[in-house]
Amino acid sequence: MIPVTKPFLPPKAELYALLDEVYDRNWLTNSGPLVNLLESEIPKFLNYNGHFSYVNNGTIAIQIAIKALELTGDIITTPFSYVATTSSIVWEGCKPVFVDIEEGSCNIDPRKIEAAITPTTTGILATHVYGNPCDVEAIAAIAKKHNLKVIYDAAHCFGTTYKGKSIFEYGDISTTSFHATKLFHTVEGGALFTNTKAVAHKINYMRNFGHNGQEDFWGIGINGKNSEFHAAMGIANLKHMGQVLEKRKAQWLLYRAQLGKHYDTLDLIDETGFNYSYFPIFFKSEKDLLAKKKLLDDNHIYCRRYFYPSLNTLNYTKTDTILEVSEQRSKTVLTLPLYDKLSEENQFLIVKNILS
Ligand SMILES: Cc1ncc(COP(=O)(O)O)c(C=O)c1O
Repeated sequence: MIPVTKPFLPPKAELYALLDEVYDRNWLTNSGPLVNLLESEIPKFLNYNGHFSYVNNGTIAIQIAIKALELTGDIITTPFSYVATTSSIVWEGCKPVFVDIEEGSCNIDPRKIEAAITPTTTGILATHVYGNPCDVEAIAAIAKKHNLKVIYDAAHCFGTTYKGKSIFEYGDISTTSFHATKLFHTVEGGALFTNTKAVAHKINYMRNFGHNGQEDFWGIGINGKNSEFHAAMGIANLKHMGQVLEKRKAQWLLYRAQLGKHYDTLDLIDETGFNYSYFPIFFKSEKDLLAKKKLLDDNHIYCRRYFYPSLNTLNYTKTDTILEVSEQRSKTVLTLPLYDKLSEENQFLIVKNILS
């Protein structure tokens, strides 16, 4: 059986040494030493120079970002993302206004953003799909012109750079996910990145119930903290991330060399800075995709329709607007198995089944 993903696991001894420390201290959560260590190590690893806040998942990170930037009313967003991007907007009492995507990158199409801006638009929430950056310059120019805040859902972006800088440097806030299925994970986890000190201050209060000391509250907050156990997994994993990223690149390039001539894949914005986190292929039609998926399933090779469905078709967002590119892409995309322990032999087996 070849699953679509398998979490990277560090050597047991490395994780257990950290867990022994946790047992000895008997300090399990609430800004413990391992959480603090992780918060200083991740920005160093990423060469990220702004403010970094570790939280308990990537969805709460988006929700805190929307709250911290005080977004209300309409938020321009992409229909081609994981459901958490859209559900967070609705959860925060705002309205997602979907703008179609570019076919090649599957990222939000900046040329279509301005036409969707209304008097109640306060922000743009865009996803760097598959870890491949959006057109951040075009989006920044539109945001500046219309006085909008920008949040990037950078859940797929661990290790991605753009023009030599961490992709997390872009936007008013970038959020990410450290879920077990991501390139870098802490079992469950997520983070917010911002270059603005005042915003970071707000985020840090908001993720801890709004606490300002034991008995004082700065404002409204939520429980966005993460635990020492999760941080231990993150610290143990981080040591191996250099190798994981290198191997992922080789695996991704193998798929492209084998399948690139036969299938439409991803147009990379900046190949040098890509983290190679996902390998999608696009079929000519949904019928073709379903037939191939069945064949792969029958051979115990599990690919994922990711992202499917297009988020403008959810029962709580549905409008009459058709977003042609996103709907077509989501109906015809399969992401292929990609994880550290995936052998070259199994990659060739996957390729053979896809080309059969
Ligand atoms: C694009 C995107 N946004 C948000 C999330 C939510 O992250 P989490 O699962 O950590 O809440 C995910 C992950 O599943 C994702 O892929």
